[in-house]
Amino acid sequence: MSVYDLFQIYEHDVLVIGAGGAGLRAAIEASNRGARVGVVCKSLLGKAHTVMAEGGMAAAMGTVDDRDNWEVHFADTMRGGQYVNNPVMAELHAKESPERVRELEAWGAVFDRTRDGRILQRNFGGHRYPRLAHVGDRTGLELIRTLQDHGVHCGMQVYMEMTVVSLLKSGERVVGAVGYDRERGRFHLWKAGAVVLATGGVGKSYRITSNSWEGTGDGHSLAYHAGAELRDMEFVQFHPTGMVWPPSVRGILVTEGVRGEGGILLNSEGRRFMFDDIPENYRQQVAATPEEGWRYVCGDRDALRPPELLTRDHVARCINREIKAGRGSPHGGVYLDIAWIRENMANAPGHIRKKLPSMYHQFKELAGVDITAERMEVGPTTHYMMGGVAVDGETQSSTVPGLYAAGEVAAGLHGANRLGGNSLSDLLVFGKRAGEYAAAFATEHGHKEPDAAQLEDIVRDIERPFARASGENAFSLHHELQDVMQDRVGIVRTQGEMEEAVAKIAELKQRYADVAVAGHREFNSGWHTALDLHCMLTVSEAIALSALARQESRGAHFREDCPEKTAEGATYNLVVRKGDDGAMQIRREPVLEMREALREIIERNR
Ligand code: FUM
Repeated sequence: MSVYDLFQIYEHDVLVIGAGGAGLRAAIEASNRGARVGVVCKSLLGKAHTVMAEGGMAAAMGTVDDRDNWEVHFADTMRGGQYVNNPVMAELHAKESPERVRELEAWGAVFDRTRDGRILQRNFGGHRYPRLAHVGDRTGLELIRTLQDHGVHCGMQVYMEMTVVSLLKSGERVVGAVGYDRERGRFHLWKAGAVVLATGGVGKSYRITSNSWEGTGDGHSLAYHAGAELRDMEFVQFHPTGMVWPPSVRGILVTEGVRGEGGILLNSEGRRFMFDDIPENYRQQVAATPEEGWRYVCGDRDALRPPELLTRDHVARCINREIKAGRGSPHGGVYLDIAWIRENMANAPGHIRKKLPSMYHQFKELAGVDITAERMEVGPTTHYMMGGVAVDGETQSSTVPGLYAAGEVAAGLHGANRLGGNSLSDLLVFGKRAGEYAAAFATEHGHKEPDAAQLEDIVRDIERPFARASGENAFSLHHELQDVMQDRVGIVRTQGEMEEAVAKIAELKQRYADVAVAGHREFNSGWHTALDLHCMLTVSEAIALSALARQESRGAHFREDCPEKTAEGATYNLVVRKGDDGAMQIRREPVLEMREALREIIERNR
């Protein structure tokens, strides 16, 4: 019997792994260019972290404030990312987002409108002008629904509830992937001319996260083990506002749209603590009084934004500080208050329900809180990974031929900190580009048979947990990993704690080799967790080692023992790759040179 007999085998020109916004947009583009496309989703089609970008997609359309344009958006994105972004990606993103939003509208997305019928845009942190095209607080959901409706008519083959465990190579090139279906545990093999990774983030390596069970860093890990480089892995975004109570829903996202619509943050003393700490580089852009901040929310073009709309890294740290100083709410958060707008607005409850319908229901049903009348309790939640597969800014090709990445799994656009709303436009702009260039690669290079020896290794590895009668428990190891990442490589970091994390991850990797799972391959969540854990250990090691190596604070990476940004820190990105000995290697790479014209744009928009 040949090892091939163990698999159900399929063949595509382009295989897309992941079916959130980036994956679907890549699949649509590749299909439109004549490629035979397969899409593998870990969950059911349409269930993706994309829906957690609730408040909107950032695109400089200028429908609400005509001073907005791609240059301001570019400058905002670079400032938010603290200048270690890939400027090629930031420029393409700022220029192409409006077109991608209009295209989505043409495909059926129903955006909220201005009074004169244009797409309405709302305020979000770090964006100078109202820039987020939105559908209430369900924008990601509408985006997925639209792409799904459009995509199913493009002829792509969808494989649901399947997890990819390894990429296949022929020599240096990626030529396919293998995985299993969760229901029956059967093995599947996809041969492909090119592979696009669109697997999203890594939040499940942390205890408190907005990510659901799929967010286990699969694409990051698949790429790394296939020899691709990862970049910026020290930059993990903690969204400032997740639910904190009841415990069963801790971490679920509370959209930044609440603050965009005028929500304010208060500590247990009732103080609006965000006014206490305005970073120097934003001082010119932030209101000095609550009244001015409210005027901004209401659209006064001369007013400055409230401090709640500073960048996420800063807001999350301020909340963390209040909680640690004992000025938090009863369940370990702070207060987010949108009900206060009743003081300034007739029919405020109706307005809140219209603008934030999901938040209204979420708090009413899950926490018994009426947000039109009561304050919410919120705290930071692990939300988004800025770091990921190092890609070429225009083509989204990784450092391994035949392998592409788009959306959250790809690094570069957001630098050290992503601005809210930039993720939805990111996945449309770069999903499209990845699909286009992957299809072109497949056409040019055709198919190649995978090296057979690797298949035997893969089968042995994925069946290994069943080989032992007893051993380590995958769920326990996962919890230990989440604890160490949350407590030692979280919002505030120190050298000593990160060293402890690195040591603990090394110990967990050793114990992982002894993981044992009872039963068989048919729906066996212990086995699924054991395989996911391999990915989470890989990304956690990359995060911890990168965080240790960056000896300064920048964006989402804050070190209590070196709290300042250094001039040198703006000159490099950290790159992670697997060494020939199998050990993880880290090196510095100079940040990509910016064209003079882009420098001038940044200067003009300071
Ligand atoms: O707060 C939010 O609605 C999240 C948006 C995003 O992460 O882009």
